[in-house]
Amino acid sequence: MTEIIDGEAVASEIRDDLTDAIETLTAEGTRPGLATVLMGDDPASETYVNMKQRDCEEVGIEGIHVDVDGDAPPEELYETIADLNDDPEVHGYIVQAPVPDHVEYREVIRRVDPAKDVDGFHPENVGRLVAGDARFRPCTPHGVQKLLEAADVETEGKDVTIVGRSDIVGKPLANLLIQKAEDGNATVTVCHSRTEGLEEKTKAADVVVAACGVPELIDGSMLSEGAVVIDVGVNRVDADTEKGYELVGDVEFESATENASAITPVPGGVGPMTRAMLLYNTVTAASEQTGIDVELP
Ligand code: GUN
Repeated sequence: MTEIIDGEAVASEIRDDLTDAIETLTAEGTRPGLATVLMGDDPASETYVNMKQRDCEEVGIEGIHVDVDGDAPPEELYETIADLNDDPEVHGYIVQAPVPDHVEYREVIRRVDPAKDVDGFHPENVGRLVAGDARFRPCTPHGVQKLLEAADVETEGKDVTIVGRSDIVGKPLANLLIQKAEDGNATVTVCHSRTEGLEEKTKAADVVVAACGVPELIDGSMLSEGAVVIDVGVNRVDADTEKGYELVGDVEFESATENASAITPVPGGVGPMTRAMLLYNTVTAASEQTGIDVELP
């Protein structure tokens, strides 16, 4: 039997613990504030930021949303960023990716105050993470670590194959998993679109993390028996449904369950964890900025 790792349930526990920390901060005069910035009107991004705002409301974080016209010059986005950097009620914020083609995301990230960079994407924060002194763990990699912990999957001494080398997931997760730490100490292989012999590398892994954005790239035949599978992919594929699409992961779920000992579903696996860890980073930011100590899950 394959265990289905319930990301909704784990995320809900984390949100409950964070609610206590948020109450402590609020009682001491600081209600944590999280802003989301969306440039343009990408429908998937709109859904994501709406969910993030709903999460804020649920746990007692002050949620602020800023829309920037998708055709506006980059300077308009930079002004929004400067305002958020100066706003004492905003402890953390994110600029939802992707941004329109005429805006360079790298430049956007450089302008975010690193102390408010709850995505953990600013070069200073990336450097700190690689050095083993992370200020904020990027939300999806941190969520993956928390899911493994919740499923009692130890990474120490294990072979982990990550499929995908993005700045948002693959690279930071590889760095976290090789760190000398209880939730690290793994031997990590990072695969990508130019990797030769992908199947050999996934088959050799105790844990496979799929984060390449290719619908159902990895099937059961590419997994060793007993492998743990974490599917980060969220792909909209055409389907005969009311919305005209359905969500599938980077793993072919049905065949994967023939070999996997545990697997995350899509949706309901990594997605809710990413959102929970954004709240976690916001609470961390508020605590750091005010010097009020709180207990974190
Ligand atoms: N787009 C997809 N994932 C993310 C994320 O974690 N943060 C931001 N800002 N944009 C994203």
